[in-house]
Amino acid sequence: MKYNKIKNIDKEISLLGFGCWALSKHGWKDVNQEEAIKTLEKSIELGINFFDTAPIYGFGKSEEILGEVTRGIRKDIVIASKFGLRWNEWGHVTHDISRDSILFEIEATLERLKTDYIDLYQVHHLDNKTSLETVFKTLNQLKEQGVIKGVGVSNFKLEELKQASNLCDISSIQNQYNMLQTKDEKDILPFCQNNDIGYISYSTLAQGLLSEKVKKGYKFAKMDIRKFNDLFHDRETFDRIEGLKSPDKPLIESAFEYVMKQESLRSILVSTTKVKNLEENIKLIKRLSNQ
Ligand SMILES: NC(=O)c1ccc[n+]([C@@H]2O[C@H](COP(=O)([O-])OP(=O)(O)OC[C@H]3O[C@@H](n4cnc5c(N)ncnc54)[C@H](OP(=O)(O)O)[C@@H]3O)[C@@H](O)[C@H]2O)c1
Repeated sequence: MKYNKIKNIDKEISLLGFGCWALSKHGWKDVNQEEAIKTLEKSIELGINFFDTAPIYGFGKSEEILGEVTRGIRKDIVIASKFGLRWNEWGHVTHDISRDSILFEIEATLERLKTDYIDLYQVHHLDNKTSLETVFKTLNQLKEQGVIKGVGVSNFKLEELKQASNLCDISSIQNQYNMLQTKDEKDILPFCQNNDIGYISYSTLAQGLLSEKVKKGYKFAKMDIRKFNDLFHDRETFDRIEGLKSPDKPLIESAFEYVMKQESLRSILVSTTKVKNLEENIKLIKRLSNQ
């Protein structure tokens, strides 16, 4: 497995990162949780050391599972978590990145992950009310205290990333990037390359569309998160996918190859809940990166 350096983080991170959202089952109704946990365990055995989670994934469940599985090997792995999405007892979600909320969230995250530091702490989404000065002042303080090692952002546009970079030494940005969703190529990716900001792609397989797992007319379970993804409703998506297929390789290989062309790419986040798929992904990534 190839490993890459991200600023402020001691350990290099695996090029293939493990996306922990579906572990919680929340939003991914067809997931077999037992098998998902086995897949996480297998990923560690096969050399993945970078795990991306968030409090909102299963309202704490994803962090709890990751904490349980990685108990005892904390120093060997790199954990990325996030803050900014809060929920109430009825599951109603709101955005909050105020100082008080960050300080509340980091404590809860550390407890669920059974650790005393987070390698990469990421703003999940902005909240349209807290100033970036407040957010990054708080994060810089947590960094000075050693509670977090690196600061990351997610779902940021170029102007927001530029402002953030003036307030804090930003280690990475985690954004949606795949063969069908390429808007970051215009400005974010070049900015990352010129400013030593590590790029982490999420939805690299467009939530399954680029794995050929999801065929036209696929019926999602009630409340499945993919029902809210426009790509699944756009009539043109499946025609676009047909156009992306290559006669000499599987679509998933083209999907990995596509994001790997970016120089600032440090890790490709993929979520899988099946050992067979994990093994296939690792084999492909190893071959494509010659490692
Ligand atoms: N920062 C953010 O706002 C944000 C947003 C979304 C996601 N993320 C992060 O990115 C991670 C992954 O992104 P994503 O959840 O959008 O989805 P994704 O990784 O693009 O796609 C996941 C889907 O691909 C399938 N899959 C994976 N490998 C496969 C293979 N070899 N063959 C067939 N199917 C395969 C999985 O099915 P199986 O489980 O059946 O293998 C699953 O349905 C998340 O877990 C999360 O950590 C972050």
